Amino acid sequence: MAAQLLLLLLPFLFHLSSAAQLYNIADYGAKPDGSDDSASQLAIAWTKACSSIVPATLLIPPGKFLVSQAWLQGPCRNNKILIVIKGIVMAPSSYTSNEQWIIFKRVNGLTISGGLLDGHGQALWSCKSLSIAYSNNVWIDRVSSVNSEQFHITIYRSSHVKVTRAVITAPFDSPNTDGIHIEESSDVEVKECRIGTGDDCISMGPGDSNVWIENVRCGPGHGISIGSLGSSSNQDGVKNVTVKNVQFTGTENGLRIKTWAKPSNAFAQQILFQNATMDNVKNPIIIDQNYCPDHLDCPNQSSGVQISDVTFRDVVGSSATNTAVKLDCSKSKPCEGIMLQNINLGYNGSSEAEMVCSNVHGGSSGVVIPPCCISK
Ligand SMILES: *[C@@H]1O[C@H](CO)[C@@H](O)[C@H](O)[C@H]1NC(C)=O
Ligand SMILES: *[C@@H]1O[C@H](CO)[C@@H](O)[C@H](O)[C@H]1NC(C)=O
Ligand SMILES: *[C@@H]1O[C@H](CO)[C@@H](O)[C@H](O)[C@H]1NC(C)=O
Ligand SMILES: *[C@@H]1O[C@H](CO)[C@@H](O)[C@H](O)[C@H]1NC(C)=O
Repeated sequence: MAAQLLLLLLPFLFHLSSAAQLYNIADYGAKPDGSDDSASQLAIAWTKACSSIVPATLLIPPGKFLVSQAWLQGPCRNNKILIVIKGIVMAPSSYTSNEQWIIFKRVNGLTISGGLLDGHGQALWSCKSLSIAYSNNVWIDRVSSVNSEQFHITIYRSSHVKVTRAVITAPFDSPNTDGIHIEESSDVEVKECRIGTGDDCISMGPGDSNVWIENVRCGPGHGISIGSLGSSSNQDGVKNVTVKNVQFTGTENGLRIKTWAKPSNAFAQQILFQNATMDNVKNPIIIDQNYCPDHLDCPNQSSGVQISDVTFRDVVGSSATNTAVKLDCSKSKPCEGIMLQNINLGYNGSSEAEMVCSNVHGGSSGVVIPPCCISK
C-alpha cells in the first residue's frame, strides 16, 4: 500500500528534485588504473541507483576501470536509471568462463550512454557480452567495443529495447559469436550500428517479434540472420521483422533466414528486407531450410518451420559466388508469399549470377536480376 502511494507520488517527487541522484563509482573507491577490479564498487553504485526512489545516474568517470563481472539486477525502485560511461570499462584478459560479463536483469527503464568496452585482448573463447535480460524500456546508445575477440550484445526475454550508434568489432576469424543477438524479445530497435564479427552481425532467435533494424553496416561477418529456427519440435517463431538501409561488405551472407531441417512448429512470418547493398557477399539473399550440421535427427532432411510473407525489396550489388539468390525451402512446408522486388545482383566472375529455388511460392515485381525462379 505504502509502495503504491509512493508510486503515485513519484511524478511529484521528480518535479521537486530536478536533478537525479548521482552515484559515481570513484566515490566508492573504484580506481581508474585498469588493474584494480572495480566490480564491487560498481555493484555498490548500482545498488544505490537501483534503490533510489528518484531517477538515478550511475557514472563511470574517465579512466580505465577493470571490471571482472557485473550482475546488475532489478527490479529497481525507479524506472529512470542512466548509466553514463565516460571512461573505458575493461574485461580481465584471463576471462575464460562462458558466463556473461555485464548483465542487466529485470530492469525497467534504463539508458546506457557512451563508453568503450575493452574486451582486453586475446583470450580466445572468452565470452564478453553486455546482456539485457528480462528487462523493459532499455536504451543502449553509443556503446563501442575494442580489442575484443568476442564482444557482443544479447537481448533476451526483454521488450522495448533500443541499440543505437553501437560499434562492435572483432576479427573476422574470431569464434562464433554474433554481434547482436535478440531472442524471445519484442519491440527491439537496432539503428545506426557498425558491426564486424566472426559470426552473424545481428541474429534473431525464436520468439522475436516487432524487430526494426535500420542503417546498419555489416562486415566482416555472416550477415543479418533470422535463425537458426526450429531446433526443437516445440519452439516459438519470429514475426514482424523489418531490416532496412543496410550495407554488407565481404560477408558470408547478406539477408538470411535459416532453419533446421527437422520437425518443428516454429515459423518466420511478416518479414521485410528493404534497401540493402551487397559488396562482394557470398550469399546476398538466402533462405536455407536445410540446416543440419551433423546430419543427426533430421528425418527426411525436412524443416517444419513455415516461412511466409517475406519481401526482399531494393537489393543491389555484387555477389562473390554465382548463386546470388538461394531460396531453399522445406519440402514439407514450402515457403509461401516470398516476394522479390527490384533486385539487381551481379557476379563479378566469368558467368552470370543465378537464382536457385526449391519449394518456394510467391512472386516478383520490378526488375529482378538474376531472373526470378519463384513459382506462383
Ligand atoms: C511491426 O513492428 C513495428 C516495430 O518494429 C511496429 O511499429 C508495427 O506496429 C508492427 N506491426 C504489427 C502488425 O504488429
Ligand atoms: C538506402 O540505404 C542507404 C544506406 O545503406 C541510405 O544511404 C539510402 O539513403 C537508402 N535509400 C533510401 C531510398 O532510403
Ligand atoms: C518422411 O517422408 C515420408 C514420405 O514423404 C513421410 O511419410 C514421413 O512422414 C516423413 N517423416 C517425417 C518425420 O517427416
Ligand atoms: C571484380 O573483379 C576484379 C578483378 O578480380 C576486381 O578488381 C574488382 O574489384 C571486382 N569488382 C567487384 C565489384 O567486386
